[in-house]
Amino acid sequence: MKAKIVGTGSAVPKYCMKNNDFTKFIDTNDQWIVTRTGIRERRISREETTSTLAFEAAKKALESAKCKAEEIDLILVATCSPDDFFPSTACQVQAELGAKNAVAFDLSAACAGFLFALNTAYAYINSGVYRKALIIGADNMTRFLNWNDRGSCVLFGDGAGAVVLEASETGIFHFVQHADGGQGRVLKCFVKYEDSILKKQKEGNSYLEMEGQEVFKFAVKTVPICIEELLKKAGMQKEEIKYYLLHQANSRILLSVAKKLKEKEEKFPMNMEKYGNTSAASIPILLDEMNQEGKLRKGDILVLAGFGAGLTWGSTLLEW
Ligand code: ACO
Repeated sequence: MKAKIVGTGSAVPKYCMKNNDFTKFIDTNDQWIVTRTGIRERRISREETTSTLAFEAAKKALESAKCKAEEIDLILVATCSPDDFFPSTACQVQAELGAKNAVAFDLSAACAGFLFALNTAYAYINSGVYRKALIIGADNMTRFLNWNDRGSCVLFGDGAGAVVLEASETGIFHFVQHADGGQGRVLKCFVKYEDSILKKQKEGNSYLEMEGQEVFKFAVKTVPICIEELLKKAGMQKEEIKYYLLHQANSRILLSVAKKLKEKEEKFPMNMEKYGNTSAASIPILLDEMNQEGKLRKGDILVLAGFGAGLTWGSTLLEW
């Protein structure tokens, strides 16, 4: 049994921060950020939280799928920036939606999180355990930024995206997933809190720390290989792919992947210009925008690819 995406939704915070706004407190400029990253502005949560954005995106995905909350068997939220340690974001969304028949839990794989959650839900559906799943990617990364670090604070934004996935004759065919914890140091956000009653409080805040060039090299090396691996597994040719929807980290990463695959840039849609890097939310937000704009036609073959902290990366092949 395959699994098909039958509805999409997304939500971003109201507050929009433009590149020029950074010039008030760090040494940067709009031109540097645009040429190095493709990002012009991003949304930053004020009153919004990871769970409220996740809920908004989920509600819209259910409406788009014409699906009642009670029909959902499984809710998976991919996030690395939950509001709380527990209850999970997925359980908070389940309660808000009234999805009383669903099991709900979170999954953490940073920017690859949505893809890993989608693949997990597909595996459940494929094996007959569940029939209808709600998969959400939601992150509020701006809470963990060091606003004095110009190499990282300009890159991220907040948001959530969701899809409804149901058992079907067509849909997801194949996926590949990888992890390399040995390289985890290049992108990290360590929790600094009092870790036992006997130890002193650790100093400092929990900030995202990134070796930008290492992350860049990791992405442009692994993503094309991972996509080739996926196509080989599926026995498909690149000509059959309508779009490659990649994690929206940086336009230069996506263009480099296109070049390495010898594919046209037009097959790599981008929206980081408006949202920055929204971590686990970036692929489902892009998917929802393209769906709303009518850019996805029944039968289109899509490749989704995510990559991020862990390090983690993977790709999924599906028929729309
Ligand atoms: N504005 C102006 N100058 C800056 C800024 C900024 N915002 N940030 C860094 N610089 C400066 C540096 O200090 C450096 O100055 P120096 O030469 O005087 O020392 C110069 O620009 C070049 O710095 P690099 O780090 O070499 O710049 P690079 O071209 O590598 O671009 C960037 C940096 C954009 C972070 C790039 O490495 C990148 O995109 N890496 C990928 C990281 C990424 O996408 N992370 C997202 C999270 S991970 C994920 O989603 C997978």
